[in-house]
Amino acid sequence: MANVQFENLFKNYGNVKAVHDFNLKIDEGEFIVLVGPSGCGKSTTLRMIAGLEDITSGLIYIDEKVINKIHPKNRDIAMVFQNYALYPHLSVKDNISFGLRAQKIPRAEVEKRVVEASETLGLEGLLSRRPGELSGGQKQRVAMGRAIVRNPKVFLFDEPLSNLDAKLRHKMRAEMKKLHKKVGTTTIYVTHDQIEAMTLADRIVIMKDGLIEQVGTPDEVYRRPNNIFVASFIGTPAMNFIEGEVSKVSKASSMIMLEDQKSIKLKSNNFYNNQNIILGLRPEDITITSENSGKNDNIIGLDAEISVIEPMGHETVVICDSNYGELTGKVESNSKLKENMAVKLNVSLEKVYLFDKKSEKNLNL
Ligand SMILES: Nc1ncnc2c1ncn2[C@@H]1O[C@H](COP(=O)(O)OP(=O)(O)OP(=O)(O)O)[C@@H](O)[C@H]1O
Ligand SMILES: [Mg+2]
Repeated sequence: MANVQFENLFKNYGNVKAVHDFNLKIDEGEFIVLVGPSGCGKSTTLRMIAGLEDITSGLIYIDEKVINKIHPKNRDIAMVFQNYALYPHLSVKDNISFGLRAQKIPRAEVEKRVVEASETLGLEGLLSRRPGELSGGQKQRVAMGRAIVRNPKVFLFDEPLSNLDAKLRHKMRAEMKKLHKKVGTTTIYVTHDQIEAMTLADRIVIMKDGLIEQVGTPDEVYRRPNNIFVASFIGTPAMNFIEGEVSKVSKASSMIMLEDQKSIKLKSNNFYNNQNIILGLRPEDITITSENSGKNDNIIGLDAEISVIEPMGHETVVICDSNYGELTGKVESNSKLKENMAVKLNVSLEKVYLFDKKSEKNLNL
């Protein structure tokens, strides 16, 4: 186990700023997930740690020691790739032990570690098979086995589950978590799947265009997103956004005018007149009612019409048309709601996120 630290890390490919001033301290044993849209610099960051990519500038430390100049082989890191990179002509056992044998570790020790890893990963019955005779999930486990037996200081995973179907991905996600609990190795895991990030991470690093947008626990990035990007990236279905303009700021409150001249009174004077605001409403915070629930100053009630109902089994996603554009809510699956129904979307004011339209920053923080 080791701690890992990044100091002002940059990576440029010609004019492309793949990673821009990346700073982070990872504690011993932490499970860190780098998440963000395609091209945001996740793999590049990982590859720089592994030594597969030159660093343009900045420093990477493992246990307080700068590793920039250390040969990849000597960094004591194990990486699992999206495509697993198994040797097709070698058996599972030989694939798992390949790195150890190359390091000239005594045979008995190699044997012991392979047995241990295959027990941990449930590969005992498959050791003599070739990769071509394995399912996707089994191949994935072999790739993990190869990483585990090396007993590295740090695990790096680059979208290791993205080739698996949804069900298997879910299962392997849980296994990944169990494995981390058991071996406790410091882990840096890359994915573009926010659910994978939320369920696996001790802390999530949300990236966009080579920049870190926020670092925090799953709970922090969900409840206290720094900005509109993080708010829209974390959570499914995604947060709804509607526009408003601050119309009157007084001593203890402010009025916000929505696009259809509906006004909302907020118990805060932390705004300025004519400030353009984006209100964020999480689908799970919206209560959908078929009749008018009466006036309540602590609740925003928006008129809408249901356009699509998506049953998901345990819950139902309800997509509505409104004066503010499309709004999505989430209800229990036994709800009486029907398509084309006129409804009220109710959100308690304390659940509403407020962002400045220009800076996109969260104003509730
Ligand atoms: N070898 C390369 N030469 C030039 N540009 C590159 C190279 N590798 C990556 N890039 C660019 O650097 C940026 C970051 O790429 P990176 O592979 O790190 O993204 P990513 O976050 O892993 O995306 P994905 O989710 O699609 O895997 C992208 O704009 C990409 O096009
Ligand atoms: Mg990538």
